[in-house]
This record gives sequence, C-alpha cells and structure tokens, in this order.
Amino acid sequence: MNQVITIALSKGRIFDETMPLLAAAGISPQDDPEKSRKLIITTNRPDVRLVIVRASDVPTYVQYGAGDLGVAGKDVLLEHAGGGLYQPLDLAIGKCRMMVAVRKDFDYAAAVQRGARLNVATKYVQVAREHFAAKGMHVNLIKLYGSMELAPMTGLADAIVDLVSTGNTLKANQLVAVEEIMPISSRLIVNRAALKLKRESIQPMIEAFARAAGQP
Ligand code: PRP
Repeated sequence: MNQVITIALSKGRIFDETMPLLAAAGISPQDDPEKSRKLIITTNRPDVRLVIVRASDVPTYVQYGAGDLGVAGKDVLLEHAGGGLYQPLDLAIGKCRMMVAVRKDFDYAAAVQRGARLNVATKYVQVAREHFAAKGMHVNLIKLYGSMELAPMTGLADAIVDLVSTGNTLKANQLVAVEEIMPISSRLIVNRAALKLKRESIQPMIEAFARAAGQP
C-alpha cells in the first residue's frame, strides 16, 4: 500500500522557488495556491499532497506530523520552539539576510558606544535577544508581526531586526542596515517519526531535492 506523503509549504516566494525542487522529485501540483483558495493541493502523484499554511506555521505542522515534510526559512526555524524536526538540507532558496536597521539620521554606532538602552522592534525576538546579548547590549525588545519598517519612523523603536533581500523596503522607508546578524535561506524539514515510518517514500524525495538544490 502506498503511504501518503504530506508536504507543508507557504505561498509566495518559498512556494515558487520550491516548484523546481518538487519537479525534480517528479511532483507537480494540480492547482496554483495563488489562484485557488484550496488549502490542500493534490499533485500528479496520488501518494503526495501539499498543504498550504502560513510560513511561521510550517514547523508546527511538521513537528506534529500533520506534514511529513516542509520547507521553512531559517528565520522561522530559529523562532520555533518545538522539537521533533530533522533538517537534512539547506535548499539554498529564499536567500536573504537578517539585519539590524535604523533611521538614516540615527547614529547607531554612537548609541552602542555610549551603552544606550535601545528599543528594538522585531518579529524575530529569539534571534534579536541572542544577537544583542552576544554583543553585551541591553535592549528592550518590542514584538511586532509585520511592517517592522514603520517602527523607527513612528518613534516606536530606535532599531528593527528584519529580513533584507533587495534592500528596497529599507530604502523606501528612509532606513539603513547597520549590522548583519546572519544569512538566511530555506531548509527542508522532516518529521522524525515519519522519516522512520515512511522512509521508503521520503528518502528518495530528500535525495531528489538535494540533487536539485546542488547539495552533495
Ligand atoms: C520581508 C521583510 C521586508 C522585506 C525585505 O517581508 O520583512 O519587509 O521582505 O525585502 P527587500 O529587501 O527586498 O525590500 P515580506 O515581503 O516577506 O513580508 P512579511 O512582512 O510578511 O514578512
């Protein structure tokens, strides 16, 4: 009997960049999540289906086994508290950088030097906490869920920690990046129990993704 494999993905850039990897594993979706409202998407393979979830929910689906596999950004994985995830591959997609950014007219270096306690707005509180602790800086972290760029402009925060890809969003909001925290890319994640129980189906997929992602 064929085991059904569920792959958790988010819409947008991760979905688009995952398509060639799925194609390399012989999987093609039968709907486009940008056009369809369906949250479960069947594929050309009766034993493989996709579930479309929020990016930050992908690790949760895979942790609990509602998804056998998933694709999630390192940014999301670092903020995810749960275990049970095997991360066999860096897929080298969704590449960007986690940065500290401030208003163009804010002297970050001087504020750091005089030991100012900065207000930092971010969706990535774990990463931000570790980054500033490692620098020996005391900061007040303000949790936001989006549009971080607005925080320095409105006086909510002195700095933000956010993802930067082209840099256009920072520029459009009169912000500049002052520190790189880490490079970010998307990872394949696999439920540990599923890897054991469905290894025959999952292992060839991992190998096809690895070849398509140019990994040894
Ligand atoms: C990310 C990030 C920035 C933007 C950076 O947001 O939070 O706002 O992309 O990209 P850029 O450097 O190319 O301008 P995203 O569009 O992923 O949406 P989000 O706010 O929901 O995270």
